[in-house]
Amino acid sequence: MSASPLINVMVAAARKAGRSLARDFGEVENLQVSVKGPANFVTAADLRAEEIIYKELSKARDGYGFLMEERGEVPGTDKSHRWIVDPLDGTTNFMHSIPIFAISIGLEREGELVAGVVYNPIFDELYTAEKGKGAFLNDRRRLRVAGRRDPGECVIATGIPHRGRPNHDLFHKELRSMMSTVAGLRRTGSAAIDLAWAAAGRFDAFWERNLKPWDLAAGIVLVREAGGHVSDLEGGDDMLETGNILVANKQIHKSLLQKLKGTDAG
Ligand code: IPD
Ligand code: CA
Ligand code: CA
Repeated sequence: MSASPLINVMVAAARKAGRSLARDFGEVENLQVSVKGPANFVTAADLRAEEIIYKELSKARDGYGFLMEERGEVPGTDKSHRWIVDPLDGTTNFMHSIPIFAISIGLEREGELVAGVVYNPIFDELYTAEKGKGAFLNDRRRLRVAGRRDPGECVIATGIPHRGRPNHDLFHKELRSMMSTVAGLRRTGSAAIDLAWAAAGRFDAFWERNLKPWDLAAGIVLVREAGGHVSDLEGGDDMLETGNILVANKQIHKSLLQKLKGTDAG
Protein backbone atom coordinates (compact mmCIF):
# COMPACT_ATOMS: atom_id res chain seq x y z
CA MET A 1 0.00 0.00 0.00
CA SER A 2 1.40 3.43 -0.88
CA ALA A 3 1.68 5.83 2.05
CA SER A 4 -0.18 9.16 2.17
CA PRO A 5 1.65 12.51 1.77
CA LEU A 6 1.26 13.05 5.54
CA ILE A 7 2.89 9.73 6.43
CA ASN A 8 5.65 10.41 3.89
CA VAL A 9 6.44 13.70 5.64
CA MET A 10 6.58 12.03 9.05
CA VAL A 11 8.68 9.12 7.74
CA ALA A 12 11.18 11.45 6.05
CA ALA A 13 11.70 13.33 9.34
CA ALA A 14 11.99 10.09 11.34
CA ARG A 15 14.47 8.54 8.90
CA LYS A 16 16.67 11.63 8.81
CA ALA A 17 16.76 11.85 12.61
CA GLY A 18 17.28 8.08 12.67
CA ARG A 19 20.46 8.36 10.61
CA SER A 20 21.79 10.90 13.10
CA LEU A 21 20.89 8.70 16.10
CA ALA A 22 22.39 5.60 14.45
CA ARG A 23 25.71 7.43 13.89
CA ASP A 24 25.72 8.64 17.47
CA PHE A 25 24.82 5.18 18.75
CA GLY A 26 28.04 3.90 17.16
CA GLU A 27 30.00 6.49 19.16
CA VAL A 28 28.32 5.54 22.43
CA GLU A 29 30.03 2.15 22.36
CA ASN A 30 33.43 3.85 22.45
CA LEU A 31 32.39 6.16 25.29
CA GLN A 32 30.95 3.31 27.36
CA VAL A 33 34.37 2.44 28.76
CA SER A 34 35.10 5.91 30.17
CA VAL A 35 34.37 6.38 33.88
CA LYS A 36 32.02 9.28 33.36
CA GLY A 37 30.12 7.38 30.69
CA PRO A 38 28.42 8.84 27.67
CA ALA A 39 25.68 10.88 29.46
CA ASN A 40 26.54 14.30 28.00
CA PHE A 41 27.08 12.83 24.58
CA VAL A 42 23.67 11.16 24.68
CA THR A 43 21.98 14.43 25.66
CA ALA A 44 23.62 16.05 22.63
CA ALA A 45 22.47 13.17 20.38
CA ASP A 46 18.93 13.59 21.67
CA LEU A 47 18.98 17.34 20.95
CA ARG A 48 20.45 16.80 17.48
CA ALA A 49 17.65 14.38 16.61
CA GLU A 50 14.99 16.75 17.93
CA GLU A 51 16.41 19.64 15.92
CA ILE A 52 16.28 17.58 12.71
CA ILE A 53 12.67 16.55 13.31
CA TYR A 54 11.65 20.10 14.20
CA LYS A 55 13.22 21.52 11.03
CA GLU A 56 11.88 18.82 8.71
CA LEU A 57 8.31 18.97 10.01
CA SER A 58 8.24 22.79 10.12
CA LYS A 59 9.41 22.91 6.51
CA ALA A 60 6.85 20.36 5.35
CA ARG A 61 3.82 21.67 7.28
CA ASP A 62 3.96 25.41 7.82
CA GLY A 63 2.43 26.67 11.07
CA TYR A 64 1.68 23.37 12.84
CA GLY A 65 2.36 23.50 16.58
CA PHE A 66 4.69 21.15 18.46
CA LEU A 67 4.90 19.38 21.78
CA MET A 68 8.43 18.00 22.01
CA GLU A 69 10.24 16.43 24.92
CA GLU A 70 13.18 18.84 24.93
CA ARG A 71 11.62 22.01 23.48
CA GLY A 72 8.29 21.64 25.26
CA GLU A 73 5.21 23.33 23.79
CA VAL A 74 5.79 25.39 20.64
CA PRO A 75 2.46 26.97 19.61
CA GLY A 76 1.82 27.18 15.87
CA THR A 77 -0.22 29.62 13.80
CA ASP A 78 -2.34 26.63 12.70
CA LYS A 79 -4.29 25.91 15.87
CA SER A 80 -5.80 22.65 14.57
CA HIS A 81 -2.58 20.68 14.25
CA ARG A 82 0.09 19.69 16.73
CA TRP A 83 3.04 17.31 16.37
CA ILE A 84 3.85 15.33 19.52
CA VAL A 85 7.48 14.19 19.37
CA ASP A 86 9.97 12.18 21.37
CA PRO A 87 13.24 12.32 19.40
CA LEU A 88 14.76 9.49 21.45
CA ASP A 89 12.54 7.16 23.45
CA GLY A 90 14.66 4.66 25.34
CA THR A 91 17.46 7.00 26.41
CA THR A 92 18.76 4.65 29.09
CA ASN A 93 19.06 1.82 26.55
CA PHE A 94 20.83 4.14 24.10
CA MET A 95 23.27 5.21 26.80
CA HIS A 96 24.08 1.57 27.60
CA SER A 97 24.49 0.50 23.96
CA ILE A 98 21.25 -1.48 24.02
CA PRO A 99 19.76 -1.11 20.52
CA ILE A 100 16.14 -0.81 21.65
CA PHE A 101 15.09 2.81 21.23
CA ALA A 102 12.95 4.80 18.82
CA ILE A 103 11.91 8.11 17.39
CA SER A 104 8.23 8.73 18.05
CA ILE A 105 6.17 11.24 16.04
CA GLY A 106 2.43 11.64 16.52
CA LEU A 107 0.02 14.13 14.96
CA GLU A 108 -3.03 15.61 16.63
CA ARG A 109 -5.79 17.23 14.57
CA GLU A 110 -8.43 19.21 16.48
CA GLY A 111 -7.23 17.48 19.64
CA GLU A 112 -7.57 13.98 18.18
CA LEU A 113 -4.63 11.66 17.45
CA VAL A 114 -4.68 10.96 13.71
CA ALA A 115 -1.24 9.67 12.70
CA GLY A 116 1.82 8.03 14.25
CA VAL A 117 5.30 6.93 13.25
CA VAL A 118 7.69 4.96 15.47
CA TYR A 119 11.13 4.21 14.02
CA ASN A 120 13.97 2.09 15.40
CA PRO A 121 16.94 2.98 13.17
CA ILE A 122 19.11 0.08 14.39
CA PHE A 123 16.62 -2.67 13.51
CA ASP A 124 15.40 -0.48 10.64
CA GLU A 125 11.85 -1.10 11.78
CA LEU A 126 9.44 1.63 10.71
CA TYR A 127 5.93 1.52 12.16
CA THR A 128 3.34 3.81 10.59
CA ALA A 129 -0.38 4.37 11.07
CA GLU A 130 -2.99 6.86 10.05
CA LYS A 131 -6.52 7.01 11.41
CA GLY A 132 -8.84 4.82 9.38
CA LYS A 133 -6.05 3.54 7.13
CA GLY A 134 -4.43 0.76 9.16
CA ALA A 135 -1.00 0.23 10.73
CA PHE A 136 2.05 -1.07 8.88
CA LEU A 137 5.58 -2.30 9.48
CA ASN A 138 8.07 -1.11 6.84
CA ASP A 139 5.20 -0.18 4.49
CA ARG A 140 4.58 -3.81 3.72
CA ARG A 141 3.14 -5.78 6.57
CA ARG A 142 -0.30 -4.83 7.83
CA LEU A 143 -0.31 -5.01 11.62
CA ARG A 144 -2.86 -6.73 13.85
CA VAL A 145 -2.77 -6.99 17.62
CA ALA A 146 -2.43 -10.52 19.02
CA GLY A 147 -5.65 -12.51 19.19
CA ARG A 148 -5.06 -14.66 22.30
CA ARG A 149 -8.00 -14.81 24.66
CA ASP A 150 -6.51 -16.55 27.67
CA PRO A 151 -4.40 -14.20 29.87
CA GLY A 152 -2.48 -17.28 31.02
CA GLU A 153 -0.97 -17.55 27.52
CA CYS A 154 -0.09 -13.87 27.16
CA VAL A 155 3.32 -12.18 27.13
CA ILE A 156 2.88 -8.61 28.25
CA ALA A 157 5.15 -5.57 28.58
CA THR A 158 5.37 -2.90 31.21
CA GLY A 159 7.62 -0.07 32.37
CA ILE A 160 9.36 -0.16 35.74
CA PRO A 161 9.33 3.23 37.50
CA HIS A 162 12.87 4.63 37.80
CA ARG A 163 14.58 5.76 40.97
CA GLY A 164 13.00 9.08 41.97
CA ARG A 165 9.69 8.39 40.18
CA PRO A 166 6.45 7.87 42.13
CA ASN A 167 4.38 4.70 42.71
CA HIS A 168 7.05 2.08 43.44
CA ASP A 169 4.77 0.31 45.93
CA LEU A 170 1.82 0.32 43.59
CA PHE A 171 4.05 -1.07 40.81
CA HIS A 172 5.15 -3.94 43.05
CA LYS A 173 1.52 -4.82 43.70
CA GLU A 174 0.62 -4.64 40.03
CA LEU A 175 3.62 -6.76 39.11
CA ARG A 176 2.70 -9.40 41.66
CA SER A 177 -0.84 -9.52 40.35
CA MET A 178 0.30 -9.75 36.70
CA MET A 179 2.95 -12.38 37.50
CA SER A 180 0.26 -14.73 38.71
CA THR A 181 -1.99 -13.99 35.72
CA VAL A 182 0.09 -14.04 32.51
CA ALA A 183 2.67 -16.33 30.88
CA GLY A 184 5.50 -13.79 30.92
CA LEU A 185 6.46 -10.16 31.46
CA ARG A 186 8.90 -8.02 29.46
CA ARG A 187 10.45 -4.56 29.87
CA THR A 188 12.04 -3.07 26.74
CA GLY A 189 12.89 0.37 28.14
CA SER A 190 11.01 2.26 25.42
CA ALA A 191 7.29 2.89 25.74
CA ALA A 192 7.07 3.76 22.03
CA ILE A 193 8.54 0.35 21.16
CA ASP A 194 6.25 -1.40 23.67
CA LEU A 195 3.25 0.12 21.89
CA ALA A 196 4.61 -0.65 18.40
CA TRP A 197 5.33 -4.25 19.40
CA ALA A 198 1.84 -4.57 20.88
CA ALA A 199 0.46 -3.29 17.54
CA ALA A 200 2.58 -5.93 15.79
CA GLY A 201 1.21 -8.71 18.02
CA ARG A 202 4.60 -9.39 19.65
CA PHE A 203 3.26 -8.34 23.03
CA ASP A 204 -0.30 -9.32 23.93
CA ALA A 205 -0.60 -6.24 26.15
CA PHE A 206 1.29 -3.28 27.60
CA TRP A 207 0.57 -1.17 30.66
CA GLU A 208 2.50 1.63 32.32
CA ARG A 209 1.90 4.65 34.55
CA ASN A 210 3.26 8.20 34.56
CA LEU A 211 4.26 8.41 30.93
CA LYS A 212 4.37 11.64 28.93
CA PRO A 213 2.31 12.52 25.84
CA TRP A 214 5.40 12.18 23.61
CA ASP A 215 5.97 8.59 24.84
CA LEU A 216 2.40 7.67 23.88
CA ALA A 217 0.95 9.72 21.01
CA ALA A 218 2.30 7.81 17.99
CA GLY A 219 1.98 4.38 19.62
CA ILE A 220 -1.68 4.92 20.50
CA VAL A 221 -2.52 5.43 16.81
CA LEU A 222 -0.51 2.30 15.92
CA VAL A 223 -2.35 0.11 18.41
CA ARG A 224 -5.80 1.44 17.51
CA GLU A 225 -5.16 0.99 13.80
CA ALA A 226 -3.95 -2.55 14.50
CA GLY A 227 -7.38 -3.25 16.01
CA GLY A 228 -6.31 -2.95 19.63
CA HIS A 229 -8.14 -1.43 22.55
CA VAL A 230 -6.47 1.55 24.30
CA SER A 231 -7.45 3.14 27.60
CA ASP A 232 -6.09 4.81 30.69
CA LEU A 233 -6.05 2.71 33.86
CA GLU A 234 -9.59 3.74 34.81
CA GLY A 235 -10.89 2.46 31.49
CA GLY A 236 -11.26 6.02 30.14
CA ASP A 237 -9.69 7.96 27.31
CA ASP A 238 -7.36 10.24 29.27
CA MET A 239 -4.06 8.52 28.43
CA LEU A 240 -2.22 11.71 27.49
CA GLU A 241 -3.53 13.62 30.53
CA THR A 242 -2.94 10.90 33.14
CA GLY A 243 0.14 9.32 31.54
CA ASN A 244 -1.39 5.92 32.34
CA ILE A 245 -2.12 3.35 29.65
CA LEU A 246 -3.26 -0.20 28.98
CA VAL A 247 -3.43 -1.67 25.48
CA ALA A 248 -4.45 -5.15 24.28
CA ASN A 249 -7.14 -6.85 22.24
CA LYS A 250 -10.60 -6.15 23.62
CA GLN A 251 -10.97 -9.32 25.66
CA ILE A 252 -7.49 -9.29 27.24
CA HIS A 253 -7.83 -5.56 27.86
CA LYS A 254 -11.02 -6.16 29.83
CA SER A 255 -9.57 -8.85 32.05
CA LEU A 256 -6.24 -7.05 32.70
CA LEU A 257 -8.01 -3.76 33.46
CA GLN A 258 -10.10 -5.54 36.09
CA LYS A 259 -6.93 -6.99 37.65
CA LEU A 260 -5.09 -3.66 37.65
CA LYS A 261 -8.06 -1.80 39.14
CA GLY A 262 -8.32 -4.44 41.85
CA THR A 263 -4.62 -4.00 42.64
CA ASP A 264 -5.01 -0.24 42.98
CA ALA A 265 -7.85 -0.67 45.46
CA GLY A 266 -5.90 -3.21 47.52
C1 IPD B 1 11.19 6.57 28.86
C2 IPD B 1 10.84 5.27 28.16
C3 IPD B 1 10.62 4.17 29.19
C4 IPD B 1 9.58 4.55 30.22
C5 IPD B 1 9.97 5.87 30.88
C6 IPD B 1 10.13 6.96 29.82
P1 IPD B 1 12.85 8.33 27.61
O1 IPD B 1 11.37 7.64 27.91
O2 IPD B 1 9.69 5.40 27.37
O3 IPD B 1 10.20 2.96 28.58
O4 IPD B 1 9.49 3.53 31.20
O5 IPD B 1 9.00 6.23 31.80
O6 IPD B 1 10.46 8.17 30.45
O7 IPD B 1 13.22 9.05 28.87
O8 IPD B 1 13.76 7.23 27.28
O9 IPD B 1 12.52 9.25 26.48
CA1 CA C 1 10.23 8.99 26.23
CA1 CA D 1 13.14 10.94 25.18
